Amino acid sequence: HAMRPPPPLFHLPGFSSARHAHSSTARAASVEGTEASRGVEEVVFHPADEYFQQVPHHYDHVEDYLVHYEKSIKDPEAFWSEIARNFHWETPWEETLSYNFNRSAGPIHVRFFHGGETNIAYNALDRHVAAGLGDRIAFYTERNDLEPIRESGPGGLKDQYTYREALEEVSRIANVLKSMGVKRGDKVGLFLPMVAELPLAMLACARIGAVHTVVFAGFSKEALADRLCDAGCKAVIACDGVFRGSKLIPLFHTVDAAIQLCNERGHIIEHTLVLKRLGGDVAGVHLTPGRDVWWHEATAKASSSCPVEWVPSEHPLFILYTSGSTGKPKGVLHTTGGYMIQAATTFRHVFNVRPEKNDIFLCTADCGWITGHSYVTYGPLLNGASQVVFEGVPSYPDVGRLWHMVDKYGITHLYTAPTAIRSLMREGDEHVTKYARSSLKVLGSVGEPINPEAWKWYHEVVGGGRCPIVDTWWQTETGAIAIAPLPIKGWGQKPGSASLPFLGIEPVLLSQDGKELEGPTEGLLAIKSPWPSTLRSIYGDHERMEQTYFSFDGYYLTGDNARRDSDGYYWITGRADDVVIVSGHNLGTAEVEAALAQHPSVAEAAVVGIPHDVKGNCLYCYVTLKAGQAPSPDLEKQLKVSVRNQLGAFAAPDFIQWAPNLPKTRSGKVMRRILRKVAAGGKAINVEDLGDTSTLADPEVIKELIANHV
Ligand code: PRX
Repeated sequence: HAMRPPPPLFHLPGFSSARHAHSSTARAASVEGTEASRGVEEVVFHPADEYFQQVPHHYDHVEDYLVHYEKSIKDPEAFWSEIARNFHWETPWEETLSYNFNRSAGPIHVRFFHGGETNIAYNALDRHVAAGLGDRIAFYTERNDLEPIRESGPGGLKDQYTYREALEEVSRIANVLKSMGVKRGDKVGLFLPMVAELPLAMLACARIGAVHTVVFAGFSKEALADRLCDAGCKAVIACDGVFRGSKLIPLFHTVDAAIQLCNERGHIIEHTLVLKRLGGDVAGVHLTPGRDVWWHEATAKASSSCPVEWVPSEHPLFILYTSGSTGKPKGVLHTTGGYMIQAATTFRHVFNVRPEKNDIFLCTADCGWITGHSYVTYGPLLNGASQVVFEGVPSYPDVGRLWHMVDKYGITHLYTAPTAIRSLMREGDEHVTKYARSSLKVLGSVGEPINPEAWKWYHEVVGGGRCPIVDTWWQTETGAIAIAPLPIKGWGQKPGSASLPFLGIEPVLLSQDGKELEGPTEGLLAIKSPWPSTLRSIYGDHERMEQTYFSFDGYYLTGDNARRDSDGYYWITGRADDVVIVSGHNLGTAEVEAALAQHPSVAEAAVVGIPHDVKGNCLYCYVTLKAGQAPSPDLEKQLKVSVRNQLGAFAAPDFIQWAPNLPKTRSGKVMRRILRKVAAGGKAINVEDLGDTSTLADPEVIKELIANHV
């Protein structure tokens, strides 16, 4: 069933490069024309010519991109194999690509570089050391506290690692994992704060062919246990604790409790390796002899050299959980060769970081999310870049922290999330402008749509009007940036639009019944052909992956809605499913509903997202209590705490409305569309604005919902 349809024709609907061919030298942010649409003014920004003299890109002009883009779509095999040859392959591949995006023709599959053997950790570290770059800095760790006031004798954590030191530490960790019996293909759970040792632990797994599952260290013990059990983790790499801002986060207690929960479910975690971040006994950690060992003790005894495990290109690299519209989180599976090529190539072109010019990259995302995987661990290291890993939060000790760091390290490239930008924007420009920020070259945004106001603030105030903004659209499932402007001459940027596809990505807009739409229009965002870092499966449930993403033959469905304008630029308009993006984190409303329904007083719950000034969206929950249960402020508090405990702090509901009845169809299906409108519209909303309500079993319910809006 290895199908190869004929190569698609080059087609970037409506894009006319001529319109963007001239950039202004007068002002960095030159305005090229406006197009009013949906009340959003589309202004095109071009960095000044001098910018490109100082920060040349691998591509000279948007025209070069167009040539390469065309090649990447017409002949993906030639395009990707040319790039892949720049990496080390222990055994060359025989077949560049085979795939099937057509459920009716057999199982969905994507296979890149079949027959080839490589190792991503080797390509990220050994390759650079062998090339004489061992003394280059791979990581600087910026601690939570400016002064290490809360540490008493840390377990030997270094504030920086050169590529050589990183390779040696990775080899030690790899040897420790091996001594614990971790073998090729085994799963290892990682629950660590944002210190350099987290990406190093990921690389140690990759070095020996083990599969890492990083769980964001803000998740609860239940959420951690679910993931460790689902992935079948044999060992866990953990940490005693960490301070985030002024708050102590006792991480090991969560791991200990999660392992207990796994045991109760019959899944035994045999070993943990525990990083001592806080030292002393700040976090009150008690290790279980025979199961837990301290990182610094175990690595001190381990050899700093460890042979590389060469693995086939399609060998699993990691499982990373993401929320879906229904059911439990999905373990998105990525494999080695294709992911390596695309994480590296997107990093190279989208950010244009030049290590040889002392460029310093900072991505504020946590390795617990895909952004940290691709643009802290893999993308930068595969390119030999130097970066800062930031353990803390942008608001601590004050809201100037990021700009303080920019000046301290000379950060040239900053990659952060709209929610962070919006929260800093509220605090006033003076916290930014008191720092020089003159090192900045490129500013990136990721995780949710960036509203034009925040975009302009990022551009004008943070970047002083000099720096291009790369608004990068992608997903855990795409593995790497899929739609984004490149910081090159002639590429006009429109605040709020991720603009055009990355090389090799063929986005399309589909109608609700899966028909491809042409020209400027709006529809379901889908991708028509495979790219190297396409997700390969949902771990343990390939059928769910096919149902979720491949319900229309021939397309990968993203779950997002998007608009395409007359320049061919894409504008993400929101999710098409029941996932809500809160502060850049995907939350499945079904998961939050299940967490609420766990409370003994709750009969039923329905959760929707509503817009929020800083977080992008927040959670509005309708809760129906069981007969005989009365609403109370105390119960409301209990419910919020309960969701926090079950899912993690970022999933805490913002609003709870007591709803004796939910709007249901005669067949009992909750009409979420109505709930969303009432939640966002409040008491002022008219029943007529809610669209068709004729299928409701009891239309009176709506009036009650509106009247009780909180
Ligand atoms: O809805 C889109 C939104 O985040 C979703 C993917 O979330 P996740 O898998 O957690 O990955 C986040 C980091 C890549 C997408 O389906 N999203 C992500 N980036 C953007 C975005 N929406 C608009 N613009 C973006 N730049």
